[in-house]
Amino acid sequence: RIEPNLRPKCLQEYIGQEKIRTNLKVYIEAAKARGESLDHVLFYGPPGLGKTTLSGIIANEMGVNIKVTSGPAIEKPGEIAAILNNLQEGDVLFVDEIHRLNRQVEEVLYPAMEDFAIDIMLGKDSTARSIRLDLPKFTLVGATTRAGLLTAPLRDRFGVVQKLEFYTPEELKIIVCRSAKVLQVEIEEEGAAEIAKRSRGTPRLANRLLKRVRDFAQVKYDGIITKEVADFALDILDVDKFGLDYNDRAILTTMIEKFSGGPVGLDTLAAALGEDAGTLEDVYEPYLLMNGFLNRTSRGRVATERAYHHLGIVMEP
Ligand code: ADE
Repeated sequence: RIEPNLRPKCLQEYIGQEKIRTNLKVYIEAAKARGESLDHVLFYGPPGLGKTTLSGIIANEMGVNIKVTSGPAIEKPGEIAAILNNLQEGDVLFVDEIHRLNRQVEEVLYPAMEDFAIDIMLGKDSTARSIRLDLPKFTLVGATTRAGLLTAPLRDRFGVVQKLEFYTPEELKIIVCRSAKVLQVEIEEEGAAEIAKRSRGTPRLANRLLKRVRDFAQVKYDGIITKEVADFALDILDVDKFGLDYNDRAILTTMIEKFSGGPVGLDTLAAALGEDAGTLEDVYEPYLLMNGFLNRTSRGRVATERAYHHLGIVMEP
């Protein structure tokens, strides 16, 4: 038996990201009515919020195929040219981590996105000339953790730019209940609410935690996910009541214990944690910021009173 796919297939099934959903519905309907391909779309925001899922939905709703790749996977201009040339009319090309495309590859994309054509150089020096190859009209869907990581010429070529936000516990609860149904596991309201509360606003995490809680329910309890099972399993999995995991807490603890709560520069903090500064900024920081555990000031990051309180550390006067 293969594990069922938890990703929703159409906009109707998709929960949360209200603004994106209503906007996309209009753009898709309009493009279809005109018989055109959908304009290029850029999704940005922290990981696990649905960028890949939404591109799959776009392709499905447009009734086209999707080809999935990522910035670091495309190394040479010839590779992106081959991918583009093999698409069919209207297809979606999803490029994850699109900010990591190299310069030469990115330059192939400019005319491809704008004119649906690529220029191929033939010969060298005095005999050099280029021929233009027409491409099928495709939709590029790009995903990145921060829109600011993209070069301006690339960013400007997306007709639709949408930011993904963290989900509310209520939205996550609905997602957890839907996923439980797909996984055919029985879950009580309070059990779903507990998983939702501890999933740091992120469906990918909610679904991962659901699967692990299910394992405990199956082996240690009677198979039903109650609040008791959820609490038991989530404590073992080391996610606390605010959904902070080991890494989140290590960041706050380091800020407080090594840097007196800050302000501390991003690079200094990253070095102290042995973490990549970009990952710290794009993956961990947004949730801590949104929940008031951390602040950004002109002189660096500071741990808030809430962080001290949550970690049970007394604030030095
Ligand atoms: N599974 C993961 N993300 C989802 C979402 N936004 N809506 C419904 N199911 C999901």
